[in-house]
Amino acid sequence: MANIRAAITGVGAYLPEYRLTNEEISKMVDTSDEWIMQRIGIKERRILKEEGKATSDMGARAVENLLEKTGTSPEEVDMLICATITPDMNLPATANIIAHKTNIHNAWSFDLNAACSGFIFSLSTATQFIESGRYKKVVIVAAEKMSAIINYEDRTTCPLFGDGAAAVLVEPTTEDLGVVDYINRVDGLGRHHLHIKAGGSLKPASEETVKNKEHYLYQEGQAVFKAAVSSMADVAVEIMEKHNISSEDVAWLVPHQANMRIIEATARRMGISKKQVMINIRKYGNTTAATIPLCLWDYEKQLKKGDNIILAAFGAGFTWGSTYLKWAYDSE
Ligand code: UT7
Repeated sequence: MANIRAAITGVGAYLPEYRLTNEEISKMVDTSDEWIMQRIGIKERRILKEEGKATSDMGARAVENLLEKTGTSPEEVDMLICATITPDMNLPATANIIAHKTNIHNAWSFDLNAACSGFIFSLSTATQFIESGRYKKVVIVAAEKMSAIINYEDRTTCPLFGDGAAAVLVEPTTEDLGVVDYINRVDGLGRHHLHIKAGGSLKPASEETVKNKEHYLYQEGQAVFKAAVSSMADVAVEIMEKHNISSEDVAWLVPHQANMRIIEATARRMGISKKQVMINIRKYGNTTAATIPLCLWDYEKQLKKGDNIILAAFGAGFTWGSTYLKWAYDSE
C-alpha cells in the first residue's frame, strides 16, 4: 500500500466585525499608535463584542465556512480538534460545543491547549490519525476570544491580542503532498513568564482573585520575546536542515503572529526574504492558536499545489514547534 500522508484540503475562518484600533486603545491606557506600530506592528484587532457570544460561536462559524467551501457534510467528519486557551467554560470541551453547533454527530472531539502552538500541535495530532488510515476527515478549528482574558487597563498586554477563528480540513493523500514532518517541543519552566494566575485547581476563583485581577493573562514580555525568537528560529532551521531544504526551496514561511520583530528575526535566521513570509499581524493582532490558519486563509489564493511551506510557532507553556508541509491544492 502507498504511504498515506495527511494534507490540508481546505481553510475556513470567521472574524468578528468590531475593529479595536490603536487610537481607541490609546484612550484606554497610556500608549500610542506609534509605540504599538514600532514595538509590535499591530494596527487593529478584531473583538467579539456581542453579549452572550463565546469562542465556540466563532469556531462554529469558521467550521461552517470550511464545510461549505470544501463541500463536506457534517456527517462525514470523523474527528474535530479545537485548539484554544479561551474555552467557553472549563468543562465540557469547547470542541464538543462546536461539534454540536455544526451538526457534527458522527465524530469525537476534544480541546487541545498549547496556547500559540495549538494549531501546529493539533495538526501533528490529526496527522497521526490520518496516516494510520483510521480517519478520512479531521477538522481542526483554532478559536480564541482573547478579549475575555485580557486586562484592558494593562498597557503591556492589551494592545497585543485579538479574537478570531480559523479551521482546516485534514484528509489523506497518496501523492507527495501534505505534512512531511514536524518537530514540537515544550518547557514547562517557561510557565512562570506567561500564564493566568487564578481560576484553576491551584488557585480557584475567589473574591480576592477577582479583586487582584488574577483571571487575566499575565506576561513578562521581554522573557517571552527572547525565548520566542531563539526557539522558533532554532526549530524552523532544524526542520529545514533535516530535510535539506534551502531558503530558496521555501515558498512560504507561516510564523505565529505575536510581534513583527519576532517574525522578522525568525525569517532572518532562516535566510528567508520578507516576500516569502505570511504576515497579517497588522490587521488581526495575536489571535493565539488561530494566527497560523488565519494566515493560510488570507493567503490561500496565492498558494500552489506542491509549495513548500514551513509553519513555526511559539507560545505559553512554553510550547513551540515547526511543521514542514507541501501544499496540497490550487485554490483557483
Ligand atoms: O504569543 C505568545 C507569545 N507572546 C509573545 O511572543 C510576546 C513577546 N513579547 C513582546 O512582544 C514584547 O516584549 C512586548 C511587545 C510585550 C513589549 O515590548 P518590549 O520592547 O519588550 O518592551 P518592554 O517590556 O521592554 O518595555 C519597554 C518600555 C517600558 O517602559 P520603561 O520601563 O522603559 O520606562 C514599558 O513600560 O515600554 C513601556 N511599555 C509601553 N509604552 C507604551 C510597555 N508597553 C507599552 C505600551 N505603550 N503599550
